[in-house]
Amino acid sequence: MSVLIKGGRVITAADDYVGDVYVEDERISLIGESLDVAANRTIDATGKYLLPGCVDPHTHLDMPFGGTVTADDFESGHVSAAFGGTTTHVDFCIQAQGQSFGEALEGWHGKANGKALIDYGFHLAVTDLKEGGTLEELARMPDEGVTSYKLFMAYKGALMVDDETLFRTMQTASETGALVMVHAENGDAIDVLVREALAAGRTEPRYHALTRPPETEGEATNRAIQLARVADANLYVVHVSCKEAIDPIAVAREKGWKVWGETCTQYFFIDYSFLERPDFEGAKWVYTPPPRAKENQEHLWAAIRNDILSVVSTDHCAFLWDGQKTLGRDDFSKIPNGGPGLENRLHMLHEFGARTGRISLNRMVELLATNPAKLFGLYPRKGTIAVGSDADIVVFDPEKRVTLSAATHHSKSDYNLYEGTEVTGAPEVVLRRGEVLVEGDELVGKPGSGQFRKRARVGEELRSSRTVVAA
Ligand code: URP
Ligand code: ZN
Ligand code: ZN
Repeated sequence: MSVLIKGGRVITAADDYVGDVYVEDERISLIGESLDVAANRTIDATGKYLLPGCVDPHTHLDMPFGGTVTADDFESGHVSAAFGGTTTHVDFCIQAQGQSFGEALEGWHGKANGKALIDYGFHLAVTDLKEGGTLEELARMPDEGVTSYKLFMAYKGALMVDDETLFRTMQTASETGALVMVHAENGDAIDVLVREALAAGRTEPRYHALTRPPETEGEATNRAIQLARVADANLYVVHVSCKEAIDPIAVAREKGWKVWGETCTQYFFIDYSFLERPDFEGAKWVYTPPPRAKENQEHLWAAIRNDILSVVSTDHCAFLWDGQKTLGRDDFSKIPNGGPGLENRLHMLHEFGARTGRISLNRMVELLATNPAKLFGLYPRKGTIAVGSDADIVVFDPEKRVTLSAATHHSKSDYNLYEGTEVTGAPEVVLRRGEVLVEGDELVGKPGSGQFRKRARVGEELRSSRTVVAA
């Protein structure tokens, strides 16, 4: 099967030129000017951008959480991703208490089997580390292509780990070359604040934010950075939401420490006031870390411009408002934490980042595709448009006008974080390994065709940009 994409404006993290891209057998085999080659299919991309398929390193599909299970499984989540121009994601495989990592991974592979439309990998979320068992098993996980360990420093009584587990995981990562990811909030302090609020009868959604002040995120971020220094581990801080967390990352990066940070689309657009909406509507924006005071949004734009933060992900963790969020109608601490967003990351960053001039188109590609692919051991197979790379390509129409809405999105969630937002610019055709998944408003790809991708270790990726990623 071959595809010739003609006359598009190819935009990578580094380049911006008009050219033809020729795809054979899942990969890009030629890029040039006016290519004269026969193809099974030709796509006229005149006036369109050709972007690398976006890579989302932070999603939660089919995950038991908050007394329920996230609304999108690997089928609906992947369809939603594809319509938004995301062709690869890395999901969190969560170790249940008492479970081996092998069992946990088997469970997550089972969730994706037969349903996957886009390509995917797994991070391993460590919750239960024991010497003489899971500690040793953890060291073997990179051999399975699972090269990132995730730790929750919050959600006490559920996913939260203590500092010993955090530190020992960092020590293991330092030996294996895995990347340590942290959800950085001080879970002990938050637990006290939540109990105090509930005892005082404060039950509305806004108390979700008021019991998780930004200082708790800043403290945990700094703690994780300092411990990673001691362990000599590579650290990636997920879903950074506020200045208090940006600042220690900025210091670490200024010093050249092995620290990276990510924020998520929603933190640029949703602020604390959304949680105050009446009739329990505020529960739609109950995710963690919570929506912050509005002034943080400019700090976040500056941080992605200045490479203090290197990635924008979605933290897609979709629930229904009606039936799932409502579990917490009388108690904000029972509202399942999370929101949908996998489909709208490119729409929002293009409209409010690139079109406004806050970031360049190259930087947009870097944040949404190239950096996540590099950091998570998928580059250069993913995250760029180059000869030899997987033909994951978004033919993006910069003039197409779209209104974001739950009425038209593909997530199962019954609401959209950005309901009614109008954007100019949207994916027109989305290819994954040369196969057309989405064409206009039509789903063309078949669930079951997405593949698990083994990922390279951080050290390998940094040593060689041409690391081969085995399927
Ligand atoms: O509220 C959120 N973010 N839910 C997903 C779990 C997490 O903390 O990333
Ligand atoms: Zn988190
Ligand atoms: Zn998350």
